[in-house]
Amino acid sequence: FRTLRWIWRLTYLSALGGLGYVGYGIYQNRMPAEQDEPDPNKKTLVVLGTGWGSVSLLKKLDTENYNVVVISPRNYFLFTPLLPSCTTGTIEHRSIMEPVRNFLRHKKAAVKFYEADATKIDAEKKIVYISDDSEIKGATSETEVPYDMLVVGVGAENATFGIPGVREHSCFLKEVGDAQKIRKRIMDCVETATFKNQSPEEIKRLLHMVVVGGGPTGVEFAGELQDFFESDLRKWIPEIAGNFHVTLVEALPNVLPSFSKQLIDYTEQTFKEETIEIRTKTTVKNVTDTYIEAEGTGPDGKKVLEKIPYGLLVWATGNAVRPVVKDLMNQIPAQKDSRRGLAVNEYLVVKGTEDIWAVGDCAVANYAPTAQVASQEGAFLARLFNQMAKTQTFEAELAQLSEDQARAPNKETRDEVFANIKEVQKRLRRVKQMGPFEYSHQGSLAYIGSEKAVADISWLTGNFATGGSLTYYFWRSAYLSMCFSTRNRVLVILDWVKAKMFGRDVSRE
Ligand code: FAD
Ligand code: NAI
Repeated sequence: FRTLRWIWRLTYLSALGGLGYVGYGIYQNRMPAEQDEPDPNKKTLVVLGTGWGSVSLLKKLDTENYNVVVISPRNYFLFTPLLPSCTTGTIEHRSIMEPVRNFLRHKKAAVKFYEADATKIDAEKKIVYISDDSEIKGATSETEVPYDMLVVGVGAENATFGIPGVREHSCFLKEVGDAQKIRKRIMDCVETATFKNQSPEEIKRLLHMVVVGGGPTGVEFAGELQDFFESDLRKWIPEIAGNFHVTLVEALPNVLPSFSKQLIDYTEQTFKEETIEIRTKTTVKNVTDTYIEAEGTGPDGKKVLEKIPYGLLVWATGNAVRPVVKDLMNQIPAQKDSRRGLAVNEYLVVKGTEDIWAVGDCAVANYAPTAQVASQEGAFLARLFNQMAKTQTFEAELAQLSEDQARAPNKETRDEVFANIKEVQKRLRRVKQMGPFEYSHQGSLAYIGSEKAVADISWLTGNFATGGSLTYYFWRSAYLSMCFSTRNRVLVILDWVKAKMFGRDVSRE
């Protein structure tokens, strides 16, 4: 009994200690310390965007070394991997948003943040032109920000390939506002379909949910939507059960082209079981407010144009270059052959410039446009900038030591200074040894509905492909650990528990 009592006491004390530690962490997070004011003599580093690339840079950057200015139309970081879950209310959007003010306020030296779009970058004059496009504008809503060093991390916009009607009639899935719009439209379609005297064709159309693009975004959204129907909509609005239908349209012969063949087959089989229709080798050519026109291949191998009526249309056909990036590319002759974004060298310097770097989806460095790549690039740049600042400090120190050596009154002092010079030179050499950016691929994950996920994981000896319910728990834990903050993690867990206990909310906001 005495041993048991001691075990109990130790467990109690360690639980108390753990709670105290977490509590102190939360308290400290809410009570930021005083920050150093930026030093006007230091270089101005302007960072565009608050997405995966830029935020990963800002997290690790030693802000004491520069005057850091951040410009983005979004005053928060968005954890995009869980965005498809926000379209059906499995997760509330605020749970995956982290205000940039929170983490910038914890940096040692203060960082300026301007909520604005960069409308133009003048690479010659080293100026970024910015515009406040929010609803409330002050007397000044357009201005310019000069820079010594610039990091472009503005991501990409949605590709539409100039297909008529896409922008006017479909929903994208990139931002919080997109997920909110989709969530609202799903419920609007459902409620309108149950309106008195609605014709059977109109009911069928309104409850036809079409997703264009069979990449990970389209697949994850289709899976989430079918889950929403199976677990919630079908229960609360049973009259729609016979007509609610999800179709995924993909131009290529299969969905998830970047995943291994085994996982493509598994996804297509799972979709079949979930009754999600997949239309491969079908390219959308035109979009109206009630139907899409898609070109497929008939049984005789001939091309056929078909009208597919829809209630909700989600467009997920990948990325396109933002206008501000296109304009910058046009100013730099070395960028003339680049099509998909800013071509960068192995240190992420924009080719043809000396003081502009690019990270994430707006940079072309031969990697897929993913959060994984963007965050590794951002972290690399933080290390690079921290090292560059150290190099400058050591070089200034060396210059001072050389002067001291020349002025040394005797041999003893001269020897002492010489030893110091050797030490600083050694440190300088170590700092200057930083190698180029190397991407380390951890694997790809995607949710495919009915509590199943697929994963292509990079293993020591090669690739390891897996799919199913266990992978789903791996998917959940991996994304949970990747969330930006403890606050985000707690909110996401609570949302998952809430959805499991009470179901998703079917009210239309
Ligand atoms: P973003 O994260 O898009 O950030 C761009 C930033 O620039 C934003 O803050 C934006 O507001 C700002 N900005 C835009 N225009 C301007 C301007 N003119 N001036 C200043 N700022 C501007 N990748 C994965 O690896 N795993 C996943 O599971 C995954 N899931 C995804 C799910 C969805 C639904 C989507 C859409 C993408 C997903 N991705 C995933 C891809 C990943 O989100 C992107 O590759 C990543 O966001 C790219 O990071 P970024 O910093 O380049 O751009
Ligand atoms: P994507 O570029 O991966 O896929 C778009 C798909 O749309 C392509 O398969 C293309 O063939 C198809 N398409 C294009 N035009 C079409 C048309 N007119 N008609 C029919 N189909 C058409 O785009 P996505 O899914 O938005 O992903 C963008 C990036 O974000 C990718 O790099 C992806 O890996 C990453 N991402 C990763 C996720 C994950 O790892 N779970 C989740 C979401 C995105």
